[in-house]
Amino acid sequence: MSDTSNKPRVLVTRKLPENVEARIARDYEATFNPDDRQYDSAELLKLSEGMEAIIPCHTEKFTPEVIEHLPSSVKAIVNFSVGYDHVNTAAAIERGIIVTNTPDVLSDATAEIAMLLMLGAARRASEGDRLVRSQQWKDWSPAFMVGTQMTGKRLGIIGMGRVGQVVAKRARGFDMEIHYHNRSRLPEENEQGATYYSSVEELLPHCDFLSLHCPVVPESIGLLNEQRIALLPDHAIVINTARGAIVDDGALIAALSHGGVRAAGLDVFNNEPVGIHPAYRELENVFLLPHIGSATSETRDAMGFRALDNLDAIVAGKAPGDRVA
Ligand code: DGY
Repeated sequence: MSDTSNKPRVLVTRKLPENVEARIARDYEATFNPDDRQYDSAELLKLSEGMEAIIPCHTEKFTPEVIEHLPSSVKAIVNFSVGYDHVNTAAAIERGIIVTNTPDVLSDATAEIAMLLMLGAARRASEGDRLVRSQQWKDWSPAFMVGTQMTGKRLGIIGMGRVGQVVAKRARGFDMEIHYHNRSRLPEENEQGATYYSSVEELLPHCDFLSLHCPVVPESIGLLNEQRIALLPDHAIVINTARGAIVDDGALIAALSHGGVRAAGLDVFNNEPVGIHPAYRELENVFLLPHIGSATSETRDAMGFRALDNLDAIVAGKAPGDRVA
């Protein structure tokens, strides 16, 4: 990296797709992370010295303390993610730091993972996979590994934004009936016959499957708690591709253990990756994935280019398309 370059300096906290890093290197004086190591707060602050912008992922936590100590050179946090709950936006606003995200481009990939989790949980996919791999599969009978069907069932969606609407569309391919709760009701043409409930409590009794697609805001933390899980039918299957914080793990694990719900398909967790609730690893009726909702090469490229469009606009003194703070 040359000190004489007039290009704006940016810190890229994780390894990004080749095409995306090539565009960054072309237009910016960038510090990359070729080893893809996760930085702690102290390293993040040190590496931010002299940077005009940071391109982080959800793995970097911009707490109020971190934001308070960011060098004054940092003018923007340009997230490589749609979720931005890892950034304390109030603190960023206070410091006059612009924050952006990457909506839209990961809706299809995330909806695919939601469908995979529904199928996996309903048809006991990971249980079956374990059985075959461990050479414990010894017999077949009509009573063997019986799951439940998705076709024609009721799918409840909490958060009918971009991802929620794509999930509804894919689920209609399975002849599922769509029920939803959202902060505001969708226009009729976007509802496509889905039934709206003005509260989560009203929606829950109508869910054979429940898929979470709301952002983490103070009101959604622990949204799926003991009281609300009790409103689900016992045969309900819970899917989470949004954020772990939306689920009260203790309550979901208790329901999974005692028949309060039938199964769960989870791609996101509280305290992921290493600190997830250990009971999830023990339960047979959960289908678990390691936060890969947006992990396709097409979507990773699109997320990077969307983030760079935001960064280019900020550097040019224009309004970025995806400003969230
Ligand atoms: C997102 O974009 O929010 C994904 O969860 C990856 O961070």
